[in-house]
Amino acid sequence: MTGDTGTRDVLAIMELLLTAEIFNRNEELNINDLHPRCREFFGAGSGGSPEVKRPLIVSEGAIKKVLDTPDAVYQAVRANPFVSYEEFGQRLSLPSLDTAAGWFLKKGGEERVGENPVLAYFFDGKDGVTVRYRDVRAKNRRFEDTREYVEAKVSRIIGESEEMREARDLIIISAPNEVEFTVEKLVCTPRQEETIKKIGVALEHRDFLKRHGIYEFGRLLFVGPPGTGKTSLALAMSRALHMPVLEVRLAMVTSQYLGETSKNIDRIFDLAKKIAPCILFIDEFDFVAKTRVSDDHGAMKRAVNMLLKNIDQISFVKNGVLLIGATNHPRILDEAAWRRFDEVVEFPLPDREMRQAILEKVAATIECDCDFADLAARTEGFSGSDLRMMMKEAVMSALMEDRHRVGPVDIEQGLLRAEERNVIRTGR
Ligand SMILES: Nc1ncnc2c1ncn2[C@@H]1O[C@H](COP(=O)(O)OP(=O)(O)O)[C@@H](O)[C@H]1O
Ligand SMILES: [Mg+2]
Repeated sequence: MTGDTGTRDVLAIMELLLTAEIFNRNEELNINDLHPRCREFFGAGSGGSPEVKRPLIVSEGAIKKVLDTPDAVYQAVRANPFVSYEEFGQRLSLPSLDTAAGWFLKKGGEERVGENPVLAYFFDGKDGVTVRYRDVRAKNRRFEDTREYVEAKVSRIIGESEEMREARDLIIISAPNEVEFTVEKLVCTPRQEETIKKIGVALEHRDFLKRHGIYEFGRLLFVGPPGTGKTSLALAMSRALHMPVLEVRLAMVTSQYLGETSKNIDRIFDLAKKIAPCILFIDEFDFVAKTRVSDDHGAMKRAVNMLLKNIDQISFVKNGVLLIGATNHPRILDEAAWRRFDEVVEFPLPDREMRQAILEKVAATIECDCDFADLAARTEGFSGSDLRMMMKEAVMSALMEDRHRVGPVDIEQGLLRAEERNVIRTGR
């Protein structure tokens, strides 16, 4: 076997062999020490259970089937003197782990050690190795963040009760890994950053807060004009805090049978407490206020009161539910709704400096001949969403002419489109 591809394929299999060997020998390692590609190979976490059955086994069949390995590569692995083969079960293993590990490093396996917590656990502190187990483990994807895990957990909960099943149909549940938007893609105000950090700290010290009876925490109201990143941040926090997010559309909850509405709200909060730790995100929170003034149905009033009562009773510290409400219209929220939140986080229209930062983030991967400082100065009143839209139009303008590089003409085109859109929207 020669050539780079060959070596890479051999290393991939050796990684699995080493991982199995080290994992089997160390009881304290668990599913979150397995790199996602190892989880997949060993079938760990299938069915949503975080328990990993030992021993992990690397068989000839699995190598060929799961990895789609050419026979020559497989033979090259088997030919290594430290790889032993058991006819029964066609199983490969590494009886002399140290020799195999030394070979692995020499052949360029260090990069994999830097991604694979099980390997890092073994190599940490060894001669010539700079990789630290703690760092590798911290950046490994957590199993609790996967769709599989969250889905299994939710299935268990709704399997127990019809009421929970009904509540589940009224919300959108996303696992942290499924949320596309990350905090890193957002340009946040210092105050927003502080809030994210504070929640992270509170999550870490939940027991401390509980012991000292500090419960008034973790009910946030995001307030600001459309397109300023409220929804994006609420969802991105799911990733940052490793909690699934339950999105409630109040319109969806209330459009069903009116009489059921207040029961539905109650159930959704119950479900959130059962899924906890999680984020319960109520977008378009002003819906509450609108129905309060305009609706004279007793049922709707009861529903709103039920919502407020539930918000009163929920606590991040006690129940592990982080509640986020978002509204574009703070002024129509009355005092009763307002005072239920522990913290109001403002989402202002971005100032010049923020606009420049947003433009730079949006265009980060695009080749662009453009003076962002100048563009920021010319886009007063634009929201983050407007800026994004503008850049998208600029990119399209370039692509329409078969160019991958965005130039000044395209930017002007983007600005024009964004302004047109605002004229249509505001009627001015
Ligand atoms: N501060 C920001 N930084 C980066 N992107 C932003 C920002 N604010 C808004 N955006 C972009 O605008 C889009 C719409 O934002 P969204 O979260 O839906 O706003 P809101 O919920 O406040 O109406 C998002 O896709 C996001 O990319
Ligand atoms: Mg929104």
